[in-house]
Amino acid sequence: MEARCSILFSDFYYKKALRSGLWLVWLCGIFLICVSFYATLLLSKERKIINEGPKITLFTAPRPFTGFIGERQALAVRSWLGLSENINVVLFSQDPSVFSLAESLGSRVLVEPNIDFTFLGTPYFHSMVARSLASSSDVSVLVNPDAIILSDFVSTLNYAHKLDEDWLLVAATQNISHFPFHLDSGGKRWLTDDGKHVGIKKLQEFLSQKSCGKLHGEGVIIAWNNVDLPLHKGILPPFLYGKGLHNRWIITEALNSDFRLVIEASLTISSFYLNNLHQEKYMANTSWELSGNSLLGRLYGSFSFRKAKYSSLFMLFEYGGRYLFVNKNQNIAYMLGYKRSLNLWKKGVSVSPMEEEIQSCLDSIESLAEIEGRLVNEQSRLWTSITMPLSLENLLSVRADQNKTIVLGVAGYSYKDMLMSWVCRLRHLRLSNFLVCALDSEIYEFSILQGLPVIKFLNPPTNISFDDCHFGTECFQKVTKVKSRMVLQILKLGYNVLLSDVDVYWFENPLPYLRSFGPSVLVVQSDEYNMAGPINLPRRLNSGFYYANSDIATIKAMEKVVNHAANSNFSEQPSFYDTLCGEGGSNRLNDNQCMEPETNLLVHFLNRDLFPNGAYGGLWEEKDIKKICMDKGCLILHNNWIGGRKKKLERQVLSGLWEYDINTRMCLQSWQRIDIPSYF
Ligand SMILES: *[C@@H]1O[C@H](CO)[C@@H](O)[C@H](O)[C@H]1NC(C)=O
Ligand SMILES: *[C@@H]1O[C@H](CO)[C@@H](O)[C@H](O)[C@H]1NC(C)=O
Ligand SMILES: *[C@@H]1O[C@H](CO)[C@@H](O)[C@H](O)[C@H]1NC(C)=O
Ligand SMILES: *[C@@H]1O[C@H](CO)[C@@H](O)[C@H](O)[C@H]1NC(C)=O
Ligand SMILES: *[C@@H]1O[C@H](CO)[C@@H](O)[C@H](O)[C@H]1NC(C)=O
Repeated sequence: MEARCSILFSDFYYKKALRSGLWLVWLCGIFLICVSFYATLLLSKERKIINEGPKITLFTAPRPFTGFIGERQALAVRSWLGLSENINVVLFSQDPSVFSLAESLGSRVLVEPNIDFTFLGTPYFHSMVARSLASSSDVSVLVNPDAIILSDFVSTLNYAHKLDEDWLLVAATQNISHFPFHLDSGGKRWLTDDGKHVGIKKLQEFLSQKSCGKLHGEGVIIAWNNVDLPLHKGILPPFLYGKGLHNRWIITEALNSDFRLVIEASLTISSFYLNNLHQEKYMANTSWELSGNSLLGRLYGSFSFRKAKYSSLFMLFEYGGRYLFVNKNQNIAYMLGYKRSLNLWKKGVSVSPMEEEIQSCLDSIESLAEIEGRLVNEQSRLWTSITMPLSLENLLSVRADQNKTIVLGVAGYSYKDMLMSWVCRLRHLRLSNFLVCALDSEIYEFSILQGLPVIKFLNPPTNISFDDCHFGTECFQKVTKVKSRMVLQILKLGYNVLLSDVDVYWFENPLPYLRSFGPSVLVVQSDEYNMAGPINLPRRLNSGFYYANSDIATIKAMEKVVNHAANSNFSEQPSFYDTLCGEGGSNRLNDNQCMEPETNLLVHFLNRDLFPNGAYGGLWEEKDIKKICMDKGCLILHNNWIGGRKKKLERQVLSGLWEYDINTRMCLQSWQRIDIPSYF
C-alpha cells in the first residue's frame, strides 16, 4: 500500500512540480495521511470484512411494470443487481406486475406489499423508511425506481462501511436526456452499439456534468449503515412518496440532529435517469396529494421547515482510488481512519481540476440555503385545505367489491386513532371495499392525509367535542343519526352497506357470512348482555354493526328509521328497534328475529358467539382475548359497553386488538419491532 502511495505521489509530483508551495504542503499531508491510513488499517484488527463487502439492500417503490415506464424500471433494477452479488432489492408494491417482474429477476429481488399505501396505491414514505430501517442488511439504500446506478456506487459504500462512524449518505441522481450505451444480458457490463465494453471511467466521463448539491429533487439516493441508531431526531411525518419534500426533510433533520455523519457523495456515485420519457406520477389527479405533503405541517408538530445545518455536511471525493472528505466550514479534509486533520483548502486558490470540482460543489451547497428559502415560500402557499377529488358516487364505484358491497366506517376526530386501527385491520385482512364517513373537517383532512377514501358528511349535526361524545350523551345521539342517513343514501345509490363502528375489531372478514342471509333481511348485532334468553328484546338492537342490502324493503324500512330518529330526543339506536321490532318488541317473531309489518323486512339478530358485543361473556375481562375469541369463532368483537373515549382506547390497545402505531403513524406490520405502546 505504501508503494502504491508513493507511485501515486511521484506521478503527481512530476506533473505538478511547478505549482506553488502549497502543493508541497498538500503532498506531505497526503503522504502522512497514507502512512497513517495504512497504520490504522493494520491496527484495526476488529474489522472483519476487508475484501468481502457489506450486504446492501436497495429499496424502491416502482410504478407497475408496464409499457415504457416498466422497461425503464426493469433496466434500472437490472443495473443494480449487476453491481455486486451482495446487493438485494426490495420493491414496495401491491401490483401483480411487480410480483411477476421480481420472480423473473431471481431470488435477490423481493416484493414487500406490507407497508402503508393510499387507497390510490401511492406508498407512504415514512412506512418505506421504517421498513428499510428494519432490514437485516449492513447497508440500506432508498433509490428512485428508474435510477440507473454505476459501479462506483459499490466502491463508495464499501468505503463508507469501513468508517468508524455511523453515517447517512446522500447522492443526487442526474437527469440526462441520452445514454448511448446498453446493458449486456448478464446485467454487469455496459456496451456500445457495436458490442464493445465501456469501463466505469468512460461512463463517468460521459456523465461529467456533475449534479453535486442537487439534493432537492426526487432523484436522490439515500443510504445508511444499519445500526440501532435513528437517522434523525423526532418522527418522520407520513409523507406520500414521490410528492416532494421528503428527501429534503430527511437530509435537513439528519444534519440538524447530529446522530450520524452526513455525507454528500454525488461526486463518487454515478447514477442517472433518462428524462426523455414522460414523467408520470403515480396518479394523474393528485393535486390533493401534492398539497397533502405540505399540509402535514399543520397537522403534525414534528414537521419542520428548519434550515439545514450545512456546516456539518461532509462531502466525499475520490482521487486516484482514495477517498477524501471535505468539510467546508472547518476548511478541513479527512481520510479514513485518520483522526487528526489537515488544512488543505484555501479560499480562492485554484490549482487542480479536482479542487475546482470540489469548489464548485461547495458553492452549490451554499446556494442550497437560497433555494431553501424559496421552497419554503412556495410550499407555504400550498398550505390550503385539501379535498378529495372524487364524489360519493365515484368513490363507491371505485371501492365497492364485485357484489356492490361497501363497508362504511363513521368517525369524528376524537376517534382518529381508533379509526386508523380499524382501517389497518381491514387492510391486514386484504379488504379494500371500505369507505370512511367523516363527521367533522378535522377527521376529513386527517383521513385524506392518511390515504383513506373518505366522504364528508355535509351537515355535521353538532360540535363533536373530543372526549365527551360517548354513549348516552347528546353528542352521541346526534352523531349516530348521521350514520343511518349516510347508509340510506348509499343504499339508494344501489350499494349494499356493512356499517361498522370503528370500535369493532374484525377477527375475520364477516361479509361472506352476512351476505348469506340474502335480500330483504337486515342483519344486526344484538346488544343483549344476559348470557341466556332471547337476544331481540326491546332496545337490544345495536346500530353500530349491521348489514343492509340495497333492496326495496330495506330502503323503505331504513327511511322509516331515519324519519323516526329525526323526530326523537334519543339516539338512533332506539329508533331502529322501535321502528323495526315495534315498541316493546311487538314485531318479534321468535328469540332472534323481528318482522317489520309494512315492508316485510326481516330483522335478524346475529349469534353473539360469532358477533359478541362488549358485555357478552365478559370477553373484555379475559387476559388473552384474542385467543379466547378465536377459539369461540368470533368474527368480530365490539368494544362497547364502556364509558369514555380514553378507557375504551386503553382497553383496546392493551388487549392487543390494536393495529396502529400512534407514534409513528403507521399500521403495525410483522416486520416492526412492536413495543408495548407508551400511549398512556
Ligand atoms: C430534467 O432535465 C430537463 C432538461 O434538462 C428538464 O426539462 C426536466 O424538467 C428535468 N426533469 C426533472 C424531473 O428534473
Ligand atoms: C383524472 O382526471 C381526468 C380528467 O379530469 C379524468 O378523465 C380521469 O378519470 C381522472 N382519473 C382519476 C383516477 O380520477
Ligand atoms: C360475491 O358473491 C358471491 C356469491 O355470494 C360470492 O361467491 C363471492 O365471493 C362474492 N364476492 C366477493 C368479492 O365477496
Ligand atoms: C367546538 O368546540 C370547541 C371547544 O369546545 C370550540 O373551540 C369551537 O369553537 C367549537 N366549534 C363550533 C363550530 O362550535
Ligand atoms: C323531546 O323533548 C322535548 C323537550 O324536552 C319535548 O317537548 C318533546 O315532547 C320530546 N319529544 C319526544 C318525541 O319525546
